[in-house]
Amino acid sequence: MSAPESVARAPHATIPVNHPSQLISLRSYFSSRLGVAYCGDSMEVLKALPSSSVNLVLTSPPYALHFKKEYGNENKDRYVEWFLPFAREILRVLTDDGSFVLNIGGSYNKGVPTRSVYHFKLLIALVEEVGFHLAQECFWYNPAKMPVPAEWVTVRRIRVRDSVEYVWWFSKSPFPKASNLSVLKEYSEDMIRLNKNGVRGATRPSGHVIRDSFDKIHAGGAIPPNVTEAEFEVPESMLKMGNNAANDLYTIRCREEGIKIHPARFPALLPKFFIKMLTDANDLVLDPFAGSLTAAAVSEQLDRRWIASEAIEEYLAAGRFRFEQFTQNPKLF
Ligand SMILES: C[S@@+](CC[C@H](N)C(=O)[O-])C[C@H]1O[C@@H](n2cnc3c(N)ncnc32)[C@H](O)[C@@H]1O
Repeated sequence: MSAPESVARAPHATIPVNHPSQLISLRSYFSSRLGVAYCGDSMEVLKALPSSSVNLVLTSPPYALHFKKEYGNENKDRYVEWFLPFAREILRVLTDDGSFVLNIGGSYNKGVPTRSVYHFKLLIALVEEVGFHLAQECFWYNPAKMPVPAEWVTVRRIRVRDSVEYVWWFSKSPFPKASNLSVLKEYSEDMIRLNKNGVRGATRPSGHVIRDSFDKIHAGGAIPPNVTEAEFEVPESMLKMGNNAANDLYTIRCREEGIKIHPARFPALLPKFFIKMLTDANDLVLDPFAGSLTAAAVSEQLDRRWIASEAIEEYLAAGRFRFEQFTQNPKLF
């Protein structure tokens, strides 16, 4: 198969045999060493992909927000109906041991301090209608989220700040490829102390039996919880984690070039965690609602192949800045 035009145009690019652009016969927006981005409707890209070709679909689609973002958001009432056709294609393109990680935020109902359940309806439909397995519910804890809606949170003070987003991990089979050994955390001081002093066997009030042979320290790190703590776009002094080199480069270059920063990015730490846990080097990661190419750049950084699709060209143009860290000559792409 001949290489797509944008790859062929790059005089110095070496195209590996299994470059993901070779899976799709659409015209690409740009290519990197390991990936390819398409500008347009992700449904077209999904339909063009062969079945069982993608190891991980990791994405954050437009949420059903009451206050809409500039790229448009679907209505809550028809959100499930809108998303299911994408979900069916995602299931088809996944390998049997593949995963689908969906970042989605909650939302208030219009005019009242009550929450919509649109995302829970989606979760149920993805499992019961489309056929995904729910491998695990995970959360993104973002303490920097704004205290909104102001009416309920800061004016009347009858609700608290909403600081989490859902990150649902679905799979095609009950046993997707996964290893928490790839995402171990450093042991806490307490864990190191416990390990040194030893643990006396006991039964907790919950009924759990703690054995005195407890020696988790040998695993090489602590098993992480299902909560990812990451934030960005806050003053340096407030930064905890997540603002890695890819994000820095993106925002700096957007400012330099006078290009607007994408209004709803996720921090690089989020895709990084799942890509490391659910894929191996050279596996294929797809982000069908790619925005500023956060997941694509993290894939490249971790030596995974990637495909991204995004409807708005301006976002992709700026997303390319993230790839300047991987090449001496970014114009090459
Ligand atoms: C929440 S943003 C994703 C942000 C991304 N995770 C990042 O870190 O930059 C959702 C994106 O989906 C895009 N989008 C919406 N509908 C689309 C479609 N049918 N095909 C491709 N992209 C779409 C929007 O333009 C928007 O940039």
